[in-house]
Amino acid sequence: MQRHRVGRLATVSAAGQPLVVPCCFAVVERDGEPFVVSVLDAKPKSVSARDLARVRNIAAHPAVCLTVDDYAEDWSRLRFVQLHGTARVLDGESGEALAAIAVLREKYPQYRTMELDEAPVIEIGQMRVFSWSASGSWEGRPDDLDSVIRGRRSVRSFLPDSVPSVVVRRAIEAGGWAPSPHGRQPWRFAVVESAERRAGLAEAMAATWDEQLRLDGQDENIVRIRLEKSKQRLIEAPVLVIPCLYLADLDVYPDPNRQEAERIMAIQSIGAAIQNFLLSIYASGFDGGWMCAPLFCPEVVAGNLGLAEGLIPHALLPVGKAAKDPARRPRMPVDGLIAQWE
Ligand SMILES: Cc1cc2nc3c(=O)[nH]c(=O)nc-3n(C[C@H](O)[C@H](O)[C@H](O)COP(=O)(O)O)c2cc1C
Repeated sequence: MQRHRVGRLATVSAAGQPLVVPCCFAVVERDGEPFVVSVLDAKPKSVSARDLARVRNIAAHPAVCLTVDDYAEDWSRLRFVQLHGTARVLDGESGEALAAIAVLREKYPQYRTMELDEAPVIEIGQMRVFSWSASGSWEGRPDDLDSVIRGRRSVRSFLPDSVPSVVVRRAIEAGGWAPSPHGRQPWRFAVVESAERRAGLAEAMAATWDEQLRLDGQDENIVRIRLEKSKQRLIEAPVLVIPCLYLADLDVYPDPNRQEAERIMAIQSIGAAIQNFLLSIYASGFDGGWMCAPLFCPEVVAGNLGLAEGLIPHALLPVGKAAKDPARRPRMPVDGLIAQWE
């Protein structure tokens, strides 16, 4: 629901009169607890922020409900989320209000230029969440952890629709929360958006692909088709993200065994960071793929992008909107994943 632009806030007056108003909102976290925040901003209003009916209602009855919904003529795509919680109005100068406004400004570009000094903020906490959807198969994705884990899929063909840079930034930030050896985060993400650079990268990698396909003894025609397909994937996807290993901050050991273990730990953790990245992209309503191609020509990729010293490209993640739902590979039943021993 964080992606939704508007919610409907229900409050009740001292006399028991219900009121529903549309509002822009964001979700913030404090001490591990989520809060919904909405600023009483400078959109035209007939009374001052403090005299708004919703503010007076919250003073009388702090219990509120925020509903966020999606309507479509295809009723299999209907869904709503209801948050029941306790609201309070934060003084505009308080640190909590300023932090809330910063998050709202990240979500809504309109707030970045709006004067919000001393603007009070409605904060809803102690939330209970109720959600309903007619079907889980539409674009606005269920955002509970299990649905995101199972819903993420490797997409290999993309629509030309652009991806907001905030979506990619959020996914990289999610990557940063992955476990890593000594917490050193031994990876960086290179983001390639321009069509020209994507085409240039595809062209640069094509020589390696060509060479490898020929080594496999593939038929000339098949080589040409597969080459075109791989190039197309890089050109089609509106954003390419190249996770790079960065070993400079890792521990240095006198013996090669431990040094190699340190490097392997970094490689393990880049996988965890990539998975966080892909889950975040999926939860934001977009899709990603995972191409291992840079592993086979890291110097070509680094040289083509002009990457800083020490960055070793390990994968290539095309990001965008899926052109079609990909076929999913079946998963083993859980018992098959549990190692057996005597
Ligand atoms: C290390 C790694 C490398 C991969 N390389 C490629 C690749 O080069 N091309 C590709 O189409 N998919 C690649 N994949 C994606 C897998 O094929 C995909 O995850 C798998 O088929 C399961 O499908 P799903 O991701 O849709 O669940 C890679 C995945 C991993 C983890």
